[in-house]
Amino acid sequence: MGIFADRTAVVTGAASGIGLALTTRLLAAGARVVMADIEAAALDEAATALTAAGGTVLPVVTDVRSAVAVEALATRAAEAFGIVQYVFANAGVSVSGATWDVTADDWQWIMGVNVFGVAHMVRSFVPPLVASGLPGRVCVTASVAGYLNQPGFGAYNATKHAVVGIAESLAADLREIQSPVGVTLLAPWFVRTRIADGARNRPAELRDATAPTDFSRSVSARLGAWSGTMHTAEQVADLALSAIEDGHFAVFPYEPSRDAVRARIDAVLDGGIADFYLPS
Ligand SMILES: NC(=O)c1ccc[n+]([C@@H]2O[C@H](COP(=O)([O-])OP(=O)(O)OC[C@H]3O[C@@H](n4cnc5c(N)ncnc54)[C@H](O)[C@@H]3O)[C@@H](O)[C@H]2O)c1
Repeated sequence: MGIFADRTAVVTGAASGIGLALTTRLLAAGARVVMADIEAAALDEAATALTAAGGTVLPVVTDVRSAVAVEALATRAAEAFGIVQYVFANAGVSVSGATWDVTADDWQWIMGVNVFGVAHMVRSFVPPLVASGLPGRVCVTASVAGYLNQPGFGAYNATKHAVVGIAESLAADLREIQSPVGVTLLAPWFVRTRIADGARNRPAELRDATAPTDFSRSVSARLGAWSGTMHTAEQVADLALSAIEDGHFAVFPYEPSRDAVRARIDAVLDGGIADFYLPS
């Protein structure tokens, strides 16, 4: 029996990509999963398929940008399944464009989902878990963009640096109170998911998206050269659950990205700035 058997987990962004893969793996490991996502139809479809396959899930349509919605999610989860011991703050969106081109709506949207979404999950799920005295884990999906800053993704990079800060601070705070709750941080490289199609869930009131420019087209073309290094969402989910079982903090699925992180820190300490682009 693994650590997830007969335990409750919550996963945000559970209707697609890494969140769906995490949900599937958690169910296979015997957990009950509260699936939260803003995309109602995709969530319903995924939950129906997983239930038909024998899983115990509770789908809850949730916009993680909203503190009220995330608090309601925590209440629903507790009523249905009791204490949630495994919290996956995974939902995220991406915007691209030169830092000076990113619109105010883009900033608000991406900060709302990627940063406030994680903060709200921590605020609503950690206090009851800590109060229970039970062991558990908060797993935050950041990105290598939480450590490295590639051109053309300034807003995304900023949000992922922010969640690295939240995850490391949360780990330090939990250690301070000698809590049996730990933290794991996912720092994936490129993963085959629907993230490039994230605008499907963009709120209508934040519709002013950054327009493509020659700059962003040229950055995208360089990114295309990395398509062969992409992971599947299932590979990332497997690494995440193994890291949680082993009590590890950070997970870097793409080995060369670890050297890039070291090079960045060295460059910063030497008064410079690293070139994000890795040798092929
Ligand atoms: N795909 C990659 O290359 C990659 C790399 C590193 C990190 N990540 C991170 O992985 C996480 C998951 O993304 P993915 O790649 O699986 O993308 P995805 O688009 O396939 O899945 C993201 C899910 O989040 C949901 N979502 C979006 N806005 C939401 C909101 N406001 N409230 C609740 N749910 C919302 C979407 O509906 C979707 O189901 C994100 O945090 C992303 O930044 C992705």
